[in-house]
Amino acid sequence: MQVIPVTLAPRGVGATSRRDTWWVTPLVVFVGLSAFVVYATWAAFQGEHYTYGPYLSPFYAPELFGESPHAWFGPMPGWWPGFVPFSPALLILPFPGLFRFTCYYYRGAYYRAFWLDPPSCAVGEPRTHYRGENSFPLILQNVHRYFLYVAILFLFLLSYDVWLATRFVDPAGGATEFGIGIGTLVLAVNVVLLTSYTLGCHSMRHLVGGQHDEISASSVRDACYSCSTALNGRHQLFAWCSLFSVALADLYVRLCSMGIWTDLRLL
Ligand code: FES
Repeated sequence: MQVIPVTLAPRGVGATSRRDTWWVTPLVVFVGLSAFVVYATWAAFQGEHYTYGPYLSPFYAPELFGESPHAWFGPMPGWWPGFVPFSPALLILPFPGLFRFTCYYYRGAYYRAFWLDPPSCAVGEPRTHYRGENSFPLILQNVHRYFLYVAILFLFLLSYDVWLATRFVDPAGGATEFGIGIGTLVLAVNVVLLTSYTLGCHSMRHLVGGQHDEISASSVRDACYSCSTALNGRHQLFAWCSLFSVALADLYVRLCSMGIWTDLRLL
């Protein structure tokens, strides 16, 4: 076979012959992800205004230790280091956070938007060597499939929180009664979007369709694979929608708790 040697001339960062607005997408990703990280970090360290009545902010769910009635194991544990400000969110946010951080879609998005590696197709990048994700530290991104199991567990926990968000305490008699408020719907929509994002994960498709190149003996498995594949086709959309919904759900509970916003009871 004839081999034609090709010499690639290195370009400067951002240098390109493209004339389209290739820079818009990385810029929007940079602004969107930066805004989320700043808000989520601020909200996580607040340690207050994360519950309102039966509502619990998804940033703080499940609340393992804390002062609210939602806490599973009571107040702040004695082993918490004194020099670190306590917030229940710090115990659980790393898990969904790392699930997103290692997501195949987000990896491509922040490699381009934050590391300019490359900023877009056929645009100059800061590095001259391509090492891929085969060496440290990026090889650690392969833990994504294990964070998927944790993310699925969180879906069940957040769904349970939606159920709890229908249990209102009657201020007159103190009895618990069924009800639906705007906050219930906000938390429910958030779970739907998170579920659509999680079940469309690339690793989910491997999980449910690992032997899809063989004639399947299970129509249930085929249905799960088709469902996951359909969601995967909109993975980028659900990645962003669920990112915003989880922040908006926290904001909604926070504003209600601070008395800035009034929750409307529908039922
Ligand atoms: Fe995006 Fe797994 S690939 S969540």
